[in-house]
Amino acid sequence: MAEIVVVRDQDAAGELAAGSILDLIAAKPDAVLGLATGSTPLVVYRALERGIRERGIDVSHVRGYALDEYVGLPADHPESYRAVITREVVEPLGLTPSLIHVPNGSLEGIEHAGADYEKAIAQSGGVDVQLLGIGTDGHIGFNEPGSSFASVTRVKTLTEQTRKDNARFFASEDDVPMHCITQGLSTILKARHLLLLAFGEGKAEALAGAVEGPVSASNPGSAVQLHPHVTVLVDEAAASRLRNLDYYRYAYANKPAWQTL
Ligand code: PGA
Repeated sequence: MAEIVVVRDQDAAGELAAGSILDLIAAKPDAVLGLATGSTPLVVYRALERGIRERGIDVSHVRGYALDEYVGLPADHPESYRAVITREVVEPLGLTPSLIHVPNGSLEGIEHAGADYEKAIAQSGGVDVQLLGIGTDGHIGFNEPGSSFASVTRVKTLTEQTRKDNARFFASEDDVPMHCITQGLSTILKARHLLLLAFGEGKAEALAGAVEGPVSASNPGSAVQLHPHVTVLVDEAAASRLRNLDYYRYAYANKPAWQTL
């Protein structure tokens, strides 16, 4: 079962996630981080920034792999995930740019971009900790409903719902790319630790489906039920549809002191 931790607010989730990631980097300076874009993980990046400074942790050897990228956006577009990862993660945290990878969404070479990315992740030794948000339609990465649990990094068509949800980053919904390249569910499940974050009422149904619903390709987030080490950090609003909420609170309150996240 995933460990569900209901936190006071987003900042508390950011602190918990960042603490776990910083402990990892302190023990393994060339740790491989699985990076996510969207609004949800931003609190983690800000907490990492503070933690790196306060604890004086050397992050110059940290490696990273982003979950996904839009296909066909110009490389210098501010909403390409390469640009977002550079702006929100690489620069503020002081990571080494050449060690941080994003799937290649340019049309040139798109046929083999997925296989290239899989190979690069495998050669790095695999992702140590993967940050995940969840879409209102239940996607993780850009694995939209129907994605195979055996899927690897490949091109997908975004759902209309996802394009609507992401229109806030673009001039209009029509400007949101139709296609993306995303790590598959099988790629994500190979990471050694999954840290799934969800905030707000709008995510409550998707989160309950992922954590407590039937394991089904129709609900890609439910893939996390197949992973042996998942931590779910949620605020009260996102937790509001969980049936076993009392038990999750009870389990976390009685967590053995020696166990980390
Ligand atoms: P959000 O997106 O963090 O911007 O809500 C999550 C997702 O689509 O995976």
